[in-house]
Amino acid sequence: MSERTRELPRRSCLSVPGSNEKFLRKAPTVPSDMTFLDLEDSVAPLEKESARDKVANAIQTLGWDDRVLCVRVNAWDTKWTYGDIIEVVSKSGERLDEIMLPKVQSAAEIIATDMLLAQIEANCGLPQGHVGIEAQIETTRGLINVEEICAASPRLETIIFGPADFAASMEMPVLTGGVSIPEYPGDHFHYVFSKILMAGRAHGLQVIDGPYLKIRDLDGLREFSQRTRVLGYDGKWALNPDQVTVLNEVYSPTQEQFDKAHAILDAYREATEQQRMGAVMFGDEMIDEASRKMATKFVKRGERAGLQRSPA
Ligand code: GLV
Ligand code: MG
Repeated sequence: MSERTRELPRRSCLSVPGSNEKFLRKAPTVPSDMTFLDLEDSVAPLEKESARDKVANAIQTLGWDDRVLCVRVNAWDTKWTYGDIIEVVSKSGERLDEIMLPKVQSAAEIIATDMLLAQIEANCGLPQGHVGIEAQIETTRGLINVEEICAASPRLETIIFGPADFAASMEMPVLTGGVSIPEYPGDHFHYVFSKILMAGRAHGLQVIDGPYLKIRDLDGLREFSQRTRVLGYDGKWALNPDQVTVLNEVYSPTQEQFDKAHAILDAYREATEQQRMGAVMFGDEMIDEASRKMATKFVKRGERAGLQRSPA
């Protein structure tokens, strides 16, 4: 568990193909809260092994400011996982914050990753527990086991929904992942979004939505990402810099919400501490302890996004 990154914002999580040196060089200039260098599905099988060095080299030599920096390795049902983790973690050094594990189906896969990381840390002089884990839920088995997966290791920092692989695992008759399906009367992923969110929150994890694959349709992205933002997700994947700009805005509270949350906290403090009352009126609404909890979450999220309270 990386203490540095557990509470950092992840409104936008930029995916960068690990085999593409041009994209790797550009990635630090894109203002995503989190960046992950990919060894999995955006890298061709013939490039997988050579991409490990490119990724480790990029981590060591480029300036990544204080964003969350992650590498997505290949899933445990391939032949690459242990080699990816050992090579990348031992060559990248302390700047690598996390490993992302795709297509997680059981808690055992997280435990295996945790144990492997502990040995690499011991051999490479990294602090024990330094490397965090992000887990992708993108198969039906993964969703069924999501609660055990979220509880499997203190290294876990986030749980992520992978809509494209999930649609394939469900055998849904769609050819584009992560977009709305107009023929369906409702949100075809509502249950999935909610189940992952609840499991993640029950274990103190950040919860992230996956990619929106129509990468030029920024209005569509803005509209679709409201679904998980409103439910309470912390952020969403970005596949290019324009998507990052949209997501940094969508997953931040507005200044008005941030100021109102502060005002609720002030009013509630005054009510409980000065007037000794548990429920009071705030404008035309009643506030109580639950309102304090909701407002606290807004303030935390706004602070993560760099907001400051407007002058009175
Ligand atoms: C992401 O990995 C997805 O499958 O949607
Ligand atoms: Mg996937």
